[in-house]
Amino acid sequence: MTSTYRIATIPGDGIGTEVVPAAQQVLDAVGSRHGIRFDWNEFDWSCEYYARTGRMMPENGLEVLAEHDQIFLGAVGYPGVPDHVSLWGLLVPIRRAFRQYVNLRPVTLLPGIDSPLRDVPAGGIDFLVVRENNEGEYSETGGRLYRGTPEELAIQDSVFTRRGVDRVMRYAFDLAQCRSGRLASATKSNGIIHTMPFWDEIFRELAAEHRDVETSEYHIDALAAMFVLDPGRFDVVVASNLFGDILTDLGAAIIGSIGIAPSANLNPEGEHPSMFEPVHGSAPDIAGTGAANPLGQVWTGAMMLDHLGHPQAAADVMAAISSVLADTGARTPDLGGTASTQEVTAELLTALARTEVAA
Ligand SMILES: NC(=O)c1ccc[n+]([C@@H]2O[C@H](COP(=O)([O-])OP(=O)(O)OC[C@H]3O[C@@H](n4cnc5c(N)ncnc54)[C@H](O)[C@@H]3O)[C@@H](O)[C@H]2O)c1
Repeated sequence: MTSTYRIATIPGDGIGTEVVPAAQQVLDAVGSRHGIRFDWNEFDWSCEYYARTGRMMPENGLEVLAEHDQIFLGAVGYPGVPDHVSLWGLLVPIRRAFRQYVNLRPVTLLPGIDSPLRDVPAGGIDFLVVRENNEGEYSETGGRLYRGTPEELAIQDSVFTRRGVDRVMRYAFDLAQCRSGRLASATKSNGIIHTMPFWDEIFRELAAEHRDVETSEYHIDALAAMFVLDPGRFDVVVASNLFGDILTDLGAAIIGSIGIAPSANLNPEGEHPSMFEPVHGSAPDIAGTGAANPLGQVWTGAMMLDHLGHPQAAADVMAAISSVLADTGARTPDLGGTASTQEVTAELLTALARTEVAA
């Protein structure tokens, strides 16, 4: 029996248009051996679309997306369109309208990759960051006054709701219970005196409900240092929107390249589509050169397979990534190689075909 999924595909800008087709090839290949079919429905919503229409997506864009099982996105943002316009015109509305309140970002050192950190053994970094994805520091409340005068001021509010904090933390506690049972929380309650003590209070309430989870709390500055000095101590890390965003670029760096790092914007209840997009952006500096690493997008695709309930297919994709990294020299320049996006993709397809023969 074949499972068919309608996937809204938004390659977006820059290298998004290069890595999304690469990942689609890999997902189609793994799908064909696991009875999974993807109906890719592609949308050209991007900064180019904005230049043509004055909008990042059509007015009924969210309604159109809602008719799909999941959303597979490359990257959005390009010089010429301010980043807050591209982000708030497309990504943020999707994450919020579809209550994708968990942004799950694995930080795993894959076989064959050397961490830029000294003395990290193979398998020495393997944790998950659960980033709150709907509220927190990324809010629309605030404003500017007295523009262009010496008295000019800008106010940006943070919004933390009990419901919003509680649900993302519960997700993180559940995840920790399924793994080694350790959960770290990112705070800054020494400097941010309203929202962060509130965040800590809810974390402690939930810790009391989950006695089997070993909890720890770190101020964000110390936590960032620990990601570098002792990344092996982490299993699951829960963080607010801004802290999680920054931490996961650092996480991507310690596993070798931002070009590898995957991410999933999840609506855990499955009431709305989730959105799968790698951590990296549109990389205008290398767009069009064929040098984009497709592995972040492909790994993100494996997360989509997992979310759709196909863990074996997801595991096959991860095995293909590991085998290409460990057994072939096919690496894009961000990993010190000379291979192109398409050459790495071809190696992934070969690795998948090999496992098929072995299976
Ligand atoms: N989720 C998203 O769509 C998203 C995320 C981050 C940034 N952006 C947008 O992307 C644009 C560029 O942002 P930036 O330069 O800060 O971040 P970026 O992630 O695009 O690039 C940072 C650096 O990493 C490199 N890089 C990124 N992905 C790579 C890959 N797959 N392979 C090889 N190298 C890779 C780039 O060449 C660059 O040197 C901006 O408009 C920004 O707003 C979008």
